[in-house]
Amino acid sequence: MCGIVGILGTHPVSGDLVDALRRLEYRGYDSAGIATVENGHLGRRRAEGKLRNLEQRIAEDPLKGLTGIGHTRWATHGKPTETNAHPHMSERVSVVHNGIIENFRALREDLKAKGHVFDSDTDTEAVVHLITEEFNRRGDPVAAVKAALPQLEGAFALGIIFAGHDDLMIAARRGSPLAIGHGEDAMYLGSDAIALAPFTSEITYLEEGDMAVLRRLGAEIFDAAGQPVKRTAVKSQASSLLVDKGNHRHFMAKEIHEQPEVISHTLAHYIDMAEGKVNFPDLGIDLSALSRVTISACGTAYYAGLVGKYWIERYARVAVEVDVASEMRYREPPLPENGLALFISQSGETADTLAVLRYCKEQGQRIASIVNVRTSSIARESDVVLQTLAGPEIGVASTKAFTCQLAALASLALALGRARGTISAELEQELVKGLLEVPRHIAEMVADERPYEKLAHDLSKARDVLYLGRGINFPLALEGALKLKEISYIHAEGYAAGELKHGPIALIDENVPVIVVAPEDGLSEKTVSNVQEVAARGGQIVLISNGKPDAAGCELLAHIKVPDAHAFTNPLLYAIPVQLIAYHTAVFMGTDVDQPRNLAKSVTVE
Ligand code: M6R
Repeated sequence: MCGIVGILGTHPVSGDLVDALRRLEYRGYDSAGIATVENGHLGRRRAEGKLRNLEQRIAEDPLKGLTGIGHTRWATHGKPTETNAHPHMSERVSVVHNGIIENFRALREDLKAKGHVFDSDTDTEAVVHLITEEFNRRGDPVAAVKAALPQLEGAFALGIIFAGHDDLMIAARRGSPLAIGHGEDAMYLGSDAIALAPFTSEITYLEEGDMAVLRRLGAEIFDAAGQPVKRTAVKSQASSLLVDKGNHRHFMAKEIHEQPEVISHTLAHYIDMAEGKVNFPDLGIDLSALSRVTISACGTAYYAGLVGKYWIERYARVAVEVDVASEMRYREPPLPENGLALFISQSGETADTLAVLRYCKEQGQRIASIVNVRTSSIARESDVVLQTLAGPEIGVASTKAFTCQLAALASLALALGRARGTISAELEQELVKGLLEVPRHIAEMVADERPYEKLAHDLSKARDVLYLGRGINFPLALEGALKLKEISYIHAEGYAAGELKHGPIALIDENVPVIVVAPEDGLSEKTVSNVQEVAARGGQIVLISNGKPDAAGCELLAHIKVPDAHAFTNPLLYAIPVQLIAYHTAVFMGTDVDQPRNLAKSVTVE
């Protein structure tokens, strides 16, 4: 969480810092700030809330420095107030930080005893005073940072500038991503290449434990042992047009509508269209002897993993365990020999997922990851990267990344099935054909949003909403509930339809809408029985199905019609209505759809 940026420029940098922060706002938007070196002194502007507040502050009281750092915050330690906003600074040192300093209390007490005065409640301010203390003692900023870093426990990406040093910025990375951008007589620093896209496409990614000393003419990098090291620069693919909503009101709407195209791209990556077969990268493991697939992820990516379990177990006949990364990382389960560990993440930077990846690596698992950001930490630490080609996802609520993860998982299930001899060539062709029809069906589904606008009116009045699904559609019920609560703030829960009678049915009355994901797939009759149990208790039913509304055998609040398609592809198709229900409800309620309260796009702290 939190986005950081730094520029050693040739003209006043405050405008460019804010521009870069706008691209990083997906990492947090509780407060923002910048600091620059101006006439040898540090100057700072900060503001609570969205970036526009900071812009206004800078317009009223500009900063003119050519060297500066900036930060957009997702609060961990201390409320999202201006006092707690970054950059934090002393008279000599200013710091932006992404991550958590775990020993900040001990450092703070120690530094207070040495006479340092703290203004904020943050962990970051301890870093500022620690570096200042070392700077006062050693007189050299680089030596000061080198001495301070080993004293920090926890995760961090840091950008540091110094009073009296206009041509210097120091960066350090442990556990949180950080990229250096190379410009003409200018250098840049950012949490990711997207932030730096308007300035440069030549990017060096810092490795775990690196510290970099940036000056306008280049960067010196030191590894975790303090030894000078060369890290190659790569051409970044990040486009400078990324923050464009096109004709859409929100990024989320744009990203929902992009799904036919990006799912096509992702499928084209894994499928030989001409042959109608899966064309999957070598996973580097004996698939016929594969003992288990262990999937770990968070949030929506975890739900994609649950869908993957149904597909892989059914078509490849191999056991699949799926776990939320925050639980698995501390449970440290035993893992079998010849096991494949699969990590799913849009950002590729989710701290818990990365921690489980490292555990699985220690346990000798083959590491594969389904990621959207090819240059991310999870991708770089994987043996095999299965990229989703969703393009940058800016809306905090994941939509197109989820369906692209499903496209990759469906292809993986077929690739495993073929390698293990559990599906025939005919079945593979039939399922591939079904997958290739998905973009067309989704294009049809997003073409008419009127039913969702109408439904939003009813759902907006609800305090609680239940989602039900059975079999492979159960994870869709979980995903629907997550989408609705994160952007509309309506309390929602997803349940396996068969679990209804084991407790949740007690919640049903005429004020509780129940959204049922029920394609006609062989299990739908059982789900219909559950629908009737809800109806008998006055519950208001929204049925999402490819069948006729009267198949429910009761009155419905709404029926969302999904095109007939191969049942194998249902999770991809049924993801669309649950996204559109959440989107239109949130729009109707006037919430901040792309940047819902308390959330951030990339969860880089545990
Ligand atoms: O970047 P990741 O896919 O690892 O992120 C995982 C979750 O944080 C993410 O899916 C989150 O649940 C979304 N806000 C859901 O819409």
